[in-house]
Amino acid sequence: MNRGERLRVFSGRAHPQLARDICAHMGAPLGEALIEDFPDGEFNLKVECDVRGADVFVVQPTCPPVHDNLFELLSFIDCLRRASAEKITAVIPYFGYARKDRKDEGRVPINAKLVANLITEAGANRVLAVDLHAAQIQGFFDIPVDHLYARSVLMEKVRELGAVNPIVVSPDVGGTKLARAYAKELKADLAIVDKRRVSGNHTVVENVVGDVRDRDVVLVDDMISTGGSISNAARIVKEKGANRVFIVATHAVLCGDAVAKLDDCPAETILCTDTIPLRAEGPKRLVQASVAPLLARAIDRIHRSESVSSLFEPSARDQDDR
Ligand code: R5P
Repeated sequence: MNRGERLRVFSGRAHPQLARDICAHMGAPLGEALIEDFPDGEFNLKVECDVRGADVFVVQPTCPPVHDNLFELLSFIDCLRRASAEKITAVIPYFGYARKDRKDEGRVPINAKLVANLITEAGANRVLAVDLHAAQIQGFFDIPVDHLYARSVLMEKVRELGAVNPIVVSPDVGGTKLARAYAKELKADLAIVDKRRVSGNHTVVENVVGDVRDRDVVLVDDMISTGGSISNAARIVKEKGANRVFIVATHAVLCGDAVAKLDDCPAETILCTDTIPLRAEGPKRLVQASVAPLLARAIDRIHRSESVSSLFEPSARDQDDR
């Protein structure tokens, strides 16, 4: 097997467009696999080419429908292991259940750890992920995890927004490190919204720590799920006298009525990446930046056993503490 044949990229059904874009950047064909559903909700998977001894990458964000996408990833890994692939890397641009990373009360599971166990047990040798909600999730795996920072992709578009006298705002205390990393690059100040989560899909904002008056606000978060946190944050900074508001987030989960919330909120632009496929009706003011070139470079480096962290400035890891 020559080098080209030893490297194979496959896609589950979660985000085939991203897998195709990654392959286009790598100048490599996307591996063929047949996935067919059965009437009872089960499915069958068949990889259509030889993978014996190959270095295989499976692209599958575990975005909604989380359980379908996760099980498909597990099944793909199992299939490749049984087909004697030499190395299997699970490329998970968005890692679902990441917010369930600790026991924050009694008698609750740690689903992020459970998912890590399942992926490892299925037979993955390595994980490649983008902006994990909490960097410590890397430690849930006993296999190597390469963690990529979407900031390297988003920053260019953030600069194009042309924010005047900008201040970077985190919509909650947990996101401070990520927001600070953006603030440092923009040479901007930092403010924090005082957010309280009332339930899984309801948050309330009470105040802004920092002065946003007459400033253009760049609101930064790792993900937009129901859109509650970010749209409330946009509203409160406006109430506190901000000029323009721009939203920047890596993962556009956009569940429930998130699109309506974003369309109604006072942000001029919502800048996200394509770690998750966009719903047919995305927010009106959405701008997307692709992580495909970044993932392609990382896959190439992993295949060549070269450093992945050297894709980033040392300061990129500033965002890793949560
Ligand atoms: C919280 O820790 C996250 O960084 C996001 O702020 C949050 O998960 C977004 O959720 P939602 O859009 O449902 O408010």
